[in-house]
Amino acid sequence: MSRVYHPSSHVVEKSRLSSFNKYKEMHKKSLEQPEEFWSEIAKDFYWMTPHEPGKFLSYNFDINKGDIFVKWMEGAKTNITINILDRKVRDGFGDRIAYYWEGNHPEDYSRITYKKLLEQVCKFANMLRSHGVGKGDRVSIYMPMILETAVCMLACARIGAIHSVVFAGFSSDSLAERMSDCKAKILVTADGAWRGEKLLILKNTCDEAMEKARTKLNHTVEKCIVVAHLDRVTPCGPISDDVRTLYKWNDGVDLWWHEVIKDQSIICAPECMDAEDPLFMLYTSGSTGKPKGVLHTTAGYLLYATATFRYVFDYDAKDIYWCTADVGWITGHTYVVYAPLANCATSVMFEGTPFYPDNDRYWEVVEKYKVTQMYTAPTAIRSLMKFGEQYLAKHDLTSLRVLGSVGEPINPEAWYWYYNLVGSGRCSIVDTFWQTETGGHVLTSLPGATPMKPGAAGFPFFGVEPIILDENGKVIEGPGEGYLVFSRPWPGIMRTLYGDHERYQKVYFSKFPGYYCTGDGARRDEDGFLWVTGRIDDMLNVSGHLMSTSEVESVLTEDTRVSEAAVVSKPHPQKGESLYCFIILNEGVSFTPNLVNDLKKHIRNRIGAFAAPDVIQYAPGLPKTRSGKIMRRILRKIAVGDTDIGDTSTLADPSVVEELYKNRP
Ligand code: WT7
Repeated sequence: MSRVYHPSSHVVEKSRLSSFNKYKEMHKKSLEQPEEFWSEIAKDFYWMTPHEPGKFLSYNFDINKGDIFVKWMEGAKTNITINILDRKVRDGFGDRIAYYWEGNHPEDYSRITYKKLLEQVCKFANMLRSHGVGKGDRVSIYMPMILETAVCMLACARIGAIHSVVFAGFSSDSLAERMSDCKAKILVTADGAWRGEKLLILKNTCDEAMEKARTKLNHTVEKCIVVAHLDRVTPCGPISDDVRTLYKWNDGVDLWWHEVIKDQSIICAPECMDAEDPLFMLYTSGSTGKPKGVLHTTAGYLLYATATFRYVFDYDAKDIYWCTADVGWITGHTYVVYAPLANCATSVMFEGTPFYPDNDRYWEVVEKYKVTQMYTAPTAIRSLMKFGEQYLAKHDLTSLRVLGSVGEPINPEAWYWYYNLVGSGRCSIVDTFWQTETGGHVLTSLPGATPMKPGAAGFPFFGVEPIILDENGKVIEGPGEGYLVFSRPWPGIMRTLYGDHERYQKVYFSKFPGYYCTGDGARRDEDGFLWVTGRIDDMLNVSGHLMSTSEVESVLTEDTRVSEAAVVSKPHPQKGESLYCFIILNEGVSFTPNLVNDLKKHIRNRIGAFAAPDVIQYAPGLPKTRSGKIMRRILRKIAVGDTDIGDTSTLADPSVVEELYKNRP
């Protein structure tokens, strides 16, 4: 039984929702009267035309009854940028800081107000229009964490173009595939960026990608717009005097950002968008096949991003909010760009890494800007834990009130560290479960209202009805574990996969007709808390005992010698499956038979004898995607000794794979 933590008075006093009962009431209302509930949020925004009467919400979630569709506020017209920019300026917040920008090097920083942001967006939007980009056209974005990235996304939204941000760590192959899949007209990038002491020449990747798209995928990107970023930042490593010798310039295709916006007007008429017109697409990888272009639309996404930000981070007018996620992921879209602006918030946008110039950079940033809400990922927390507490001690972190976690289940060890050491035991932790597909948080705690358990995602957000199903699609009531599905749409759910509605229906709605299937497992405990147990394909069945790999991983990392663990299943002749564990050790700890025995014993004690792993292997590192997700597919291959691992191009560091083979016992 894990301990229940209640919001501290430090949090409750400032909270807009400060009791569990009030949360339950509001949640009930959101399900029973969706129109009344969401109209409350919608009334803060400007609608050129109201929605059609009686059509606030219509949907079909049942594949047996026809095509899947979801429509919120059908017929209503607006432009999201009017709501998140023009209106803020009109209402007197033009001089409020929208973003504090903090560069990779601590000496590089700047800021932008709402008024200036609107002007920049209009200029860039006018420029896009002048190049023939209009409503429905696609614009690919391959950029570092700089203000122009937000400007570019919002400029697309201004003119109704669909932005497709590709994380600027993907290879040229991946970028080429994503640009040609959506037939992007324009690509926007920067010459390069520093990540720690590493220099990335983004422009070269873009050149290669455009070349590949043209010659291999039969798609020509018309223009490449380039931000001259390297010249204006402090070099963090050796670099030649003239950065422009580091890449080629293609006349007729390449254009400098600063040159093309120079003479543009700061006024730009916003495109009139229907509630269900596309806002953006974002590729996410599936377990099989090519990446899926998850498509989000205008009104529902705006309502949902706004509401989740407001309640989950409990943002208050003077707060300084910081989401560390890259704009290349959905977290960056919703919780760096759209949701904070929709709430007229002041955010920190950070270009660097937690480890440069030293391992206290995060805490330095928190102290510098007096951050009140910090939103990061368990993988970052674990990697910082490894260096010890002394880095925290150097900084004043008392401004913090809400600590967010996202991306994977947070293991209790990391939770305690975040809660006790970063938050001094007085901040609320919001473990937000969601997906690229859900647009915003769907399971989470609310800082002033809901109790917390370390490792539990908590409770459904407003409008969300989570259901747990067994293998046969039977609903599990009360405590139990199974497939996490949703029985009805909330405003922010994806509407389709770009250009492939069939695949959308198949991937998300065919396994259990009537439900949106997350692909994750979940457990409801005796107190009604929801625990996300990991992807369904990370589930293990050992001797008939169903368990999730993350459960075992959490137990392994409870040992203070272990910094990170990854567990995969290995076929076993008697048990069906057995556990194969990879562990990363803390600095100064050596891998000994004693340690292995201790860990096995610990798992037996904590979970049961059936969970005792067959193998615990030392790992110098884990094969992770650039967003920090462990690629278990690769670990499963290593576990069985299969050297045919296929594509490793999406790995942050492909060399760890070889190391892991070498270390097999
Ligand atoms: C998958 C979605 C949504 C932002 C980042 C990832 C896992 C995400 C949690 C959490 C447990 C989580 C799930 C989900 N996940 N947040 N708080 N607890 N698991 O977006 O790349 O679309 O990945 O990440 O497995 O399905 P994504």
